[in-house]
Amino acid sequence: MKGKMICLEGGEGAGKSTALKVVTGWLDGRGRRSLVTREPGGTPFAEKIRKLLLDPQTGEIDPVTELLLMFAARRENVVDVIEPALADGIDVICDRFTDASYAYQGGGRELGPEPVALLAGLVHPKLQPDLVVVLDVPVKVGLERIKRRRGGPDRFEGSRVAFLERVRQAYLERARAHPDRYAVIDATQDIEAVAAEIRKCLAERLA
Ligand code: TYD
Repeated sequence: MKGKMICLEGGEGAGKSTALKVVTGWLDGRGRRSLVTREPGGTPFAEKIRKLLLDPQTGEIDPVTELLLMFAARRENVVDVIEPALADGIDVICDRFTDASYAYQGGGRELGPEPVALLAGLVHPKLQPDLVVVLDVPVKVGLERIKRRRGGPDRFEGSRVAFLERVRQAYLERARAHPDRYAVIDATQDIEAVAAEIRKCLAERLA
């Protein structure tokens, strides 16, 4: 038996944490075993890489270096956490995965999709999400939401609007290219409406 892999994606302030609870709640309600992981991160070593990547003190790094570190962390998570769980029949909910690299490094940092596809082929040749939920909100709305949070912005949240606009467009492009595996949800709606859409899409796609 093989578990399903569900990824949650979206720009800054799209409401991924709320969506995560909806997905875990839905799976629990159906008696399915699941685990939640996040990227970059998910293992002790990958969490160290995450710290480096998100720390504003890191400053600017070369986009290819950034991409390689994302995939270095991803490899650890894939090998240690994701693949063993799926093989055990456990569903994996991933708070961001390779689509975030297509969006942030491919789109935002303008590396384009090719280097991302190349590394995906190396790091997880046989693994692809069964469902990617993209929480879509206009950049300005997302930025307003994160302003209200406590604590300063991380290295990505401090990015300029044009960067975040490219991130958003890259997600939407991926979703348009693979409509069977992606669900784009209008995350400007109120929480209950977003939750209802997510549940509907899980019921339709994970049957
Ligand atoms: P995340 O944990 O998603 O926090 P939030 O949703 O609160 O911003 O933050 C991770 C950051 O890392 C996010 O800004 C996107 C970025 N990221 C990439 O640039 N590339 C990647 O491949 C991944 C997984 C994340």
